[in-house]
Amino acid sequence: MAVEMYYHDYLQLDKILNAQFPESDKKNLSAHDEMLFIIIHQAYELWFKQLHHEVDSVAVIMKEPALNDNSPELQTVVHRLNRIAVILRVLVQQVDILETMTPMDFLDFRDMLRPASGFQSWQFKQLEAKLGLKFQHRQGQEYYISKLREEHIDIIKKAESGKSLLKLLNAWLERMPLAPSSDSKEGKESFWNDYRNRYQDSLDEVEKNNLSLFDEIFFEKTNGQQTQDNEQRSLSAKACRAALFIMLYRGYPLLQLPFQLLNALLEIDEQLSSWRYRHMNMVHRMIGTRIGTGGSSGKDYLKGAADKHYIFKEIAQLNSFLIERRKLPALLPELEKRLGFVAS
Ligand code: HEM
Repeated sequence: MAVEMYYHDYLQLDKILNAQFPESDKKNLSAHDEMLFIIIHQAYELWFKQLHHEVDSVAVIMKEPALNDNSPELQTVVHRLNRIAVILRVLVQQVDILETMTPMDFLDFRDMLRPASGFQSWQFKQLEAKLGLKFQHRQGQEYYISKLREEHIDIIKKAESGKSLLKLLNAWLERMPLAPSSDSKEGKESFWNDYRNRYQDSLDEVEKNNLSLFDEIFFEKTNGQQTQDNEQRSLSAKACRAALFIMLYRGYPLLQLPFQLLNALLEIDEQLSSWRYRHMNMVHRMIGTRIGTGGSSGKDYLKGAADKHYIFKEIAQLNSFLIERRKLPALLPELEKRLGFVAS
């Protein structure tokens, strides 16, 4: 006869509830808040695990060579990306709980943890890499993994060399079938020439330089002078044109989900950034300008990471190239039909 499932066993509570061992207890010293400190870190790590579960599943779907914009898979991708953003929002709020611990409460046990630090959270660094943070964009390249065990460094390096969500996004955007091409054979009448002219008309005198950036990003034209480091870019010109097209014409049925996908990635970046800033301010409040237990410069390192570690910044940048809805070029009737619901 099958054994009846029991809540305690199903959730492995024996393991989870017996996994808190405050250092202060071992030393017979009083540090009431160390339990909170351990549990909050464990809760974060569990949520990081769930985030990996979601990101991995999204990557599996996006790796499929023919992910159809109008398919159930795309809905699943958007749904899970939105879930990731919601979890991250909760992780930001959790800082509130930790902030009920005062700097003096923390000092009761802080020295006992050295040199351990959240800096060694390999799940966090692996998550950044899986989403698309490149080694070249890392703050503290020379030491961001220096405090980690070999086996954890390998995990992060593997994620950095694999197909990140950002790379998969690039491939998906590049194969988007409906975005108008930039084919010069279409001459001056091409959609993108028309759009470029309209964008130029929308620019303020002091923004005129935006046009060369436009040419660089959407047409890979550099005019001899390169303002962006193309080596560092993850999205190709073709992918950027597709993403801009999605943003501009997102009201059409076929583009609604693709737009939500892009929007969810921006939301993830914003929530990650909010977490970094909340964590950094909490650190400042807790230890002032002292170095971290992980040995970094503390707040200064965290500020650098917060400024540099935006993962989907190339998508956010595309918002500089939008024009007013009422000035959008009209689409060819054939394309307009293809972007709508197909009636039999
Ligand atoms: C009293 C509370 C905390 C303090 C004072 C603190 C302090 C710091 C400091 C100073 C750093 C920079 C590295 C170092 O030198 O140690 C750091 C990094 C980090 N901490 Fe915390 N932390 C606290 C709580 C947390 C919590 C609850 C988490 C949740 C997992 C966390 C996750 C991280 C992560 C992921 C990093 C690496 C960030 C990056 O490399 O961009 N920390 N922390």
